[in-house]
Amino acid sequence: MIVPGDYGTAVGERLFLYRSPQPALTASFADDVRAGLTAREKYLAPKYFYDSLGSALFEAICELPEYYLTRSETEILDRYAPEMLATLGGPVELVEFGSGSARKTRVVVAAALEAQDALTYHPIDISPSALVAASSALVGEFGRLTVSAYASDYVDVLANARLRTSARVLAMFLGSNIGNYEPEGAVELLRAMSASFKPGDGLLLGTDLKKDAAILERAYNDPTGVTAAFDKNVLARINRELGGGFDLDAFAFAARYDATRGSVDSFLIAQRGMSVPIAELGLDVRFSVAETIHTESSHKFSADDIAALAAQSGFRVVRAWTDDAERFAVSLLVVI
Ligand code: AVJ
Repeated sequence: MIVPGDYGTAVGERLFLYRSPQPALTASFADDVRAGLTAREKYLAPKYFYDSLGSALFEAICELPEYYLTRSETEILDRYAPEMLATLGGPVELVEFGSGSARKTRVVVAAALEAQDALTYHPIDISPSALVAASSALVGEFGRLTVSAYASDYVDVLANARLRTSARVLAMFLGSNIGNYEPEGAVELLRAMSASFKPGDGLLLGTDLKKDAAILERAYNDPTGVTAAFDKNVLARINRELGGGFDLDAFAFAARYDATRGSVDSFLIAQRGMSVPIAELGLDVRFSVAETIHTESSHKFSADDIAALAAQSGFRVVRAWTDDAERFAVSLLVVI
């Protein structure tokens, strides 16, 4: 679990926490902001949404009536978690990539503890505040649970082989987080997962399904403006952490479904020409009126898309479960 000499610490009796060194995190944020805002088509990576304010804003998005994804996935897990565990076969250790509040995980933890005496859960999340809050709540709630938490970018955890598991692994990559990757990137990430697991290990993959553009666009262009605030928080973060001078009111937010790409693409759009200083980067970023910053793509999937993705990355789809309205799917992929 904890690698001696590593940066892991015992936070509680059944709670261990690893933290990526803070300077490394700040350096990668600075480097990525420079790369994205000096590119010909400006972009910022969605993983930088999730500081503590951003994680809280995402939790608010999950409460929006228009953002059905979380509720659909919760419906699936509530109903089928025991069946999912029985299909893979236990005992298992749980790993979760991008665990956030871990609210949906509870039902999987509970189902696993019905089937086995003890359980280890390895949540990985880029937001230390969300991770620590979720992990302490879980050990408090479940007496036979040990949590080994990683406050880190999960790509880093995979690349540096930081996970230490012993039993069969049931990993979870929920919420349609896979949708943030372009198809090649999605294959690369799932390959890194299958390569770090053993044959027979499983991955529960949550994916939003392709559907009517109006429903998809409404989920991202909510009338409350929570999603706009979530996106603009990345500019606020540049102001806070890198001495940036973004005027948040000078940007509008828009998301549109591109059926050819199968993705909802999100942008911040400059409402006037301007020059934005970023002190820590020694950079002045020029914007022309209507110029965009691409902030996120949220890809949508068909059953065939999911099968193809699995086949290209060392997995096979054993079974898939959907909600009653068939808006969302959770698929069990098993490492070949
Ligand atoms: C957490 C990446 C799945 O793409 O739907 C929600 C993030 N962005 N509203 C998504 C998000 C705007 C979400 N994921």
